[in-house]
Amino acid sequence: MPHGPLPSFPSGFLWGAATSAHQVEGDNRLNQWWRFEHEPGRIADGSVSGAACDHWHRFDEDFARAAADSHNAHRLSLEWSRIEPRQGVFDAAAIAHYHDVFASLRRHALTPIVTLHHFTDPLWIFDHGGWENRATIDRFVEFATFCGREFGGEVDWWCTVNEPDVLAFRGWSQGVWPPGKRDDSAALMVMANSLEAHGRAYHALHQADTIDADGDGRAARVGFAKHAVILEPQRPWFAPDVVYRNLEHRVFNEAVLAAASTGRIDLWIPGARGVKREVAELRDSMDYVGINHYTRWKVRAFARDPHAVPPGAVLNDLGWEVHPRGIEAVVRDAARFGRPVIILENGVADATDRVRPRALVETLAHLARAIASGVDVRGYLHWSLLDNFEWAEGYRGRFGLYQVDFANPALPRTRTRSADLFARIARANAIDPALLDEVTTPGYPA
Ligand code: FCB
Repeated sequence: MPHGPLPSFPSGFLWGAATSAHQVEGDNRLNQWWRFEHEPGRIADGSVSGAACDHWHRFDEDFARAAADSHNAHRLSLEWSRIEPRQGVFDAAAIAHYHDVFASLRRHALTPIVTLHHFTDPLWIFDHGGWENRATIDRFVEFATFCGREFGGEVDWWCTVNEPDVLAFRGWSQGVWPPGKRDDSAALMVMANSLEAHGRAYHALHQADTIDADGDGRAARVGFAKHAVILEPQRPWFAPDVVYRNLEHRVFNEAVLAAASTGRIDLWIPGARGVKREVAELRDSMDYVGINHYTRWKVRAFARDPHAVPPGAVLNDLGWEVHPRGIEAVVRDAARFGRPVIILENGVADATDRVRPRALVETLAHLARAIASGVDVRGYLHWSLLDNFEWAEGYRGRFGLYQVDFANPALPRTRTRSADLFARIARANAIDPALLDEVTTPGYPA
């Protein structure tokens, strides 16, 4: 990318990494993912989450790594199935564990950003219809209330649900995640229900968490994580591609955030029963706009797989295009709601850390540009701190700033060059132009 002025990031900018419970903790037996991954053929590399990174036991040393790398924040999720293994039964040991986790984060000066639902449901929820059942909304709001009361003294930043859109489409439309259904109408219903759950949990958390843990005058800041993908017509001159792209952009990128702003859920895709629902609690329910951003898709109509990568694109290990400048467009778009934006996830599956160093520095340079042009971005959480269990991809998708050797029972962590570059940027709260030269030197492997 061309070098322009590279301003520093705003003071107090949140720098850190993001994880989710099921992907790193290990031994999460009481949710639907554990069951699903044990069914033959579900996981691309035939693996199961198993011990994952054993982060359940090793969180303190992992947070020490993050702190040594100048992170000042950390996004994690609370595993609902551990805290409430049966309806209304709260597990004291699991609750004590998460208090230990928050104490460790505090010792390491890492501000917690806490997700309440990161794709996993307790089996007692899943077996009663999961997110297709409106009763799940009530159960989730109860869980949010519990967490707000229990952990409000340690947590100010809450993320209710992670990617309601991805949850719905992977599980109910593509059928590659639990419950493995292919029913677009059900997918839209699930999306609507999880959005409604966000809206109601937004208020529940504000009521339950009245303690300002970090002393900035605000007891709770609540949002959710929206997956933002750049969609462009494969053939801009071919009307069906343009129409199909606009349709997908509307339902994937626009309708979800709009619902959390206007309170109106309006979801529709061809061939499915649309959902229109007015939810008063959803109106104005984002204290910040949480964005997960990874890639760009070229959209083509009438194709078996409507999402393609542009010819010659740099790809990550999962075949996703690495597209650093996408983040500028994404945060500009997210800013239209007049709320601060936080990148809650962004990263590259790259087992050998070959492409990631350059992608990381360029992405952050683009983010700095967006900030310089006036977009209010408050933080960047890299996905992920550690290589981890990448859902239906199993251990094929290696996103960690620290590599984990899953073949070795000791699960050793190895620091990558990306971890070092990230640490240097976070420490300086700016990108030294020399760094950009360092990673864009001709011949640097990309
Ligand atoms: C996001 C998920 C996260 C991780 C990354 C690669 O969609 O939120 O858990 O799997 O993708």
